[in-house]
Amino acid sequence: MSQLNIVIINGPNLNLLGKREPEIYGSTTFEDCLAQLKNKYPDIHFDYFQSNVEGELIGAIQQYGFSQWGIILNAAAYTHTSVGIGDAVKAVPSPVVEVHISNTFSRENFRHQSYISPNAAGVILGFGLSGYGLAVEALIGLKK
Ligand code: DQA
Repeated sequence: MSQLNIVIINGPNLNLLGKREPEIYGSTTFEDCLAQLKNKYPDIHFDYFQSNVEGELIGAIQQYGFSQWGIILNAAAYTHTSVGIGDAVKAVPSPVVEVHISNTFSRENFRHQSYISPNAAGVILGFGLSGYGLAVEALIGLKK
């Protein structure tokens, strides 16, 4: 089997994980989460991109999405607002696994709408940062 390349793309305010609303998002930083993933999956090549800017997230999806990368995308608040990010997910051939740390369906109504889900390979939400590991497993399953 050829090398599995996975990029994790995180949207706005996810650079604050660990100190942002820890009762919802936990107290682990994303850097720690990524280090754990790299440790657990030494054969997978991980890239990580985070931005608070919508267009930069679209650029990253375009950059990785045509070159044999599995994409794990937590578009954060843009999930609920961005037609542009939804269109980018639709435009690329790479599989996109949508992840949310919190269960967005148990929160405010505006978080129930996702512009990503219709074109995602699948969605994982509500399991905290473990959702990123579950998304890696999903991409391994898709690659087989
Ligand atoms: C989030 C859920 C979104 O509604 C919110 O805007 C975020 C994080 C999550 O991972 O639970 O910033 O995507």
